[in-house]
Amino acid sequence: MEQMGQGRTADIFVADDNKVLKLYKKGFPIEAIHEEYGVSRYVHNLGIHVPRPFEMVEREGRLGIIFERVPGTSLLHLMTQRPLRIKRFSRTLAALHHHVHSHSAADLNRNHKEILAHNIQSAPLLTDAEKSKIIRYLQGLPEDHKLCHGDYHPDNVLVGDESHSWVIDWMTGMAGHPLGDLARSVLLLTYGTLPEGTPKTKGLLINFFRRRIKNQYIRHYMKLANKDYAEVDPWILPVAAARLADGIPDAEKNALLLDIRARLKTIS
Ligand SMILES: Nc1ncnc2c1ncn2[C@@H]1O[C@H](COP(=O)(O)OP(=O)(O)O)[C@@H](O)[C@H]1O
Ligand SMILES: [Mg+2]
Repeated sequence: MEQMGQGRTADIFVADDNKVLKLYKKGFPIEAIHEEYGVSRYVHNLGIHVPRPFEMVEREGRLGIIFERVPGTSLLHLMTQRPLRIKRFSRTLAALHHHVHSHSAADLNRNHKEILAHNIQSAPLLTDAEKSKIIRYLQGLPEDHKLCHGDYHPDNVLVGDESHSWVIDWMTGMAGHPLGDLARSVLLLTYGTLPEGTPKTKGLLINFFRRRIKNQYIRHYMKLANKDYAEVDPWILPVAAARLADGIPDAEKNALLLDIRARLKTIS
């Protein structure tokens, strides 16, 4: 089978009949793969543009999901190929995220605050007292049950001809507060490291344009949602703490930890 892509969790292969096989790395938690299949089906049934999930399969001891193959290129790739269009691509990123958030997911059995609290609880580097304080703070943030992606960034959006686009990689999808979901994307655009194997020039370009992408994305989302960034900022603390549990490089963890501790000082 021809390999067409690679992420942190899986390898993507071309399968027959306009399909792809997302084959998870050995040892990847089975429950998480079931979550991705279940959430992908849920989101596809809502009518959102996502590759249709067909079935779960096993290949040489690895679990995978067969998806419809969509004719798109990731926004991350497009941003490096056409840096003059960064502003337009960043707006597309914002508009699609806002569209995802316009859907209720009240009957999706995955709750944003519960998932954040669980991840904060299992985060390395934080003391128990810090974890309790952050979880208490999280409980005081506004409730909502909109569809949230949970890992929304330019490599999880595919764009094709005539601006057809698809949001992929729904393992972390959940019902929650749009601005909490936005906070995660802001953090990824601030501190996130690029996938392993990213060519050096591509990495340099993205790092150079990072701030511009983030600012355009935030500005356009705020305009569409008619919100103020002051409503997003409170979400950064719990979302950053939960991010520590993600198995990210040490440099990223340390940068997050500094931000978390500075924010902890400002709350009672
Ligand atoms: N349904 C699909 N159709 C076409 N390309 C896809 C599809 N799913 C994934 N890809 C390609 O594979 C890459 C990684 O897929 P993704 O689901 O984001 O994996 P990971 O969870 O490892 O990040 C994408 O950026 C894209 O280039
Ligand atoms: Mg991905």
